[in-house]
Amino acid sequence: PIRANKRAREKENLPNQSSEMTRPYQVWALGLMMFGLWSCSSPETKEALNTEKDQRYVKDVHSFARPNEVAVTHISLDLKADFDTHTLSGTVTHTLDRSGTSDSVHFDVSDLTIKAAYDDKGTSLPFEVRKGNAFGGQLVVSLMPESKKVSLIYATSPEANAVQWLEPVQTLGKVHPFLFTQGQAILTRSWIPCQDSPGIRVTYDAKMTVPSELMAVMSAKNPTTRNAEGIYTFKMEQPIPPYLIALAIGDMEFESLGDRTGVYAEPEMLPKAAYELEEMEKMIVAAENLYGPYRWEQYDVIVLPPSFPFGGMENPRLTFATPTIIAGDRSLTSLIAHELAHSWSGNLVTNATWDDFWLNEGFTVYFEGRIMEEVFGKDYSDMLKSLGLQGLKGTITELGPESADTHLKLNLEGRDPDDGMTDIAYEKGHMFLEMLEETYGRETFDAFLKGYFDHFAFQNMTTERFLEYLNTELISKHEAKVNADEWVYGPGLPSNSREFKSDRFAKVDAQMSAWLDGSSPASALNTSGWSTHEWLHFLRAIPENLTTERMAELDKAYGFTDSKNSELQGIWYEKAILTRYERAFPAMEDFLVHVGRRKFLTPLYQAMIKGDRYTVLANSIYAKARPNYHSVSKGTMDELLHFGS
Ligand code: BES
Ligand code: ZN
Repeated sequence: PIRANKRAREKENLPNQSSEMTRPYQVWALGLMMFGLWSCSSPETKEALNTEKDQRYVKDVHSFARPNEVAVTHISLDLKADFDTHTLSGTVTHTLDRSGTSDSVHFDVSDLTIKAAYDDKGTSLPFEVRKGNAFGGQLVVSLMPESKKVSLIYATSPEANAVQWLEPVQTLGKVHPFLFTQGQAILTRSWIPCQDSPGIRVTYDAKMTVPSELMAVMSAKNPTTRNAEGIYTFKMEQPIPPYLIALAIGDMEFESLGDRTGVYAEPEMLPKAAYELEEMEKMIVAAENLYGPYRWEQYDVIVLPPSFPFGGMENPRLTFATPTIIAGDRSLTSLIAHELAHSWSGNLVTNATWDDFWLNEGFTVYFEGRIMEEVFGKDYSDMLKSLGLQGLKGTITELGPESADTHLKLNLEGRDPDDGMTDIAYEKGHMFLEMLEETYGRETFDAFLKGYFDHFAFQNMTTERFLEYLNTELISKHEAKVNADEWVYGPGLPSNSREFKSDRFAKVDAQMSAWLDGSSPASALNTSGWSTHEWLHFLRAIPENLTTERMAELDKAYGFTDSKNSELQGIWYEKAILTRYERAFPAMEDFLVHVGRRKFLTPLYQAMIKGDRYTVLANSIYAKARPNYHSVSKGTMDELLHFGS
């Protein structure tokens, strides 16, 4: 039930840059000259930051950047991808806002080799990489009084956390290598030295030189055809936080799905992907009708090779997606609704720090539900909600109902932001908004949300600032009062949380009961018209103490072991481990070796080591599979399986 980690673990609306960038709070920033590691930042400093009302940047404990002194406003990349040495190397040029008086600029770096620094006059600048913490170091560059830009010549390490370099065998085509990056939460610093905080906003442009048989795409204006020299240029004209800068390189092609939608994938995958994602334009229209114009012009999806560690990543203009959503029957496309919704919640209005992560994900899950309801009907979105709520309750039990990790507003100081990426942000955040919707009525709440996205477009958002806005724009204008603080700063699920029941799931429950109590054999159950979601609900209800004979009966009737639907496979294999139904193991092993999506890996490895059931098997599969995984998944599985210790 803990989502990402533990369990699975355009232009017309651009803000006026120059006036936006004038910052009225520089006075206190002078007092911040101490080179403190974030983990030792003094309480007084934080106090000062938190009470400063009119400030653009809040303290981010996961970044060494000091944007209140010198802030980067534009990033210009010129990089070459070397698939032999697994390095990206070249130059990044940062355009600086120096309205402060500081004569140095601070960047986040991780595993990078910085070779030189110079400014826009060509003057070489002294720099120093200081030791940081587990999540990276700090690069401090001394500036000349007149320096307006800083260029850094650098190279990444083959181990860069954000980057996965795939060998040809790890792709569908098996002929060409592939590369993709994953920036969220704090991994961009491993491929670009930058101010890697979600509170920063930059526009960017890039020139990428790649092997001429490959194509490159980014979270930016993208090419749709190959360039014979392997040189690609990109522009992102809307300001975005650095965690949304993303790159993919490989043997890929583009297929247009409409005026402003399309899909990139390896040639072998492209037709299937195009079929699966055909409803994207409908989703955009539904989203725009709810919360205002899509402000990024184009919405494309790239379907990546199976090692991509997430289901989807909302990189602007180009969602990165796992191929495990390509089920053949469009049954798993709510994930696209989710990533699309981030074009408002997250990419337009961005969590200021990772402690405010629920502002990204909770809003997005709510918005995703609204898109799905609009396009596929209420009985469909009710299944998704019932499912989400079930997961949330499990997560709260697992974390402990009084745990501070069940608060919406987190305190991740000294911890990996990944620790905060649980169902709490997603589903408790979602339920908070459902409660507000119910209290004030859909129409009123929609107007409020639309106003919120318009008002704060292209800005970052703290939990406190949101609560203040909620109070002035919604709560104080109506008689009904709500316990917002209890939801945000308190544990567990408050008593005014809504319940979600699905009629379609109730029918599934009836069939499962009939099978469990012996009144009907598996083959005679009434499953007609069931979608993937009904089947998932059915499989989730399999008790852990089922006999292997009974598992075999189900398998014979419905062929779960050989299913090609990743969500069904995930749950079926987990149940197979728990019930020792070993006939499913070869298929499960194949799944684990090829798929790197953490959400599927964690429960399977966890089930294998639970009560020492299949620890030896878990370790032997992991030894085979590990080279295929991205650092994000490796990190979680290494810890789970005590790999290397
Ligand atoms: N932004 C997240 C993925 C993410 C979160 C990456 C935190 C790194 C750190 C993305 O929008 C997401 O939530 N993806 C989900 C799918 C979604 C339908 C809930 C996933 O990948 O499972
Ligand atoms: Zn999300």
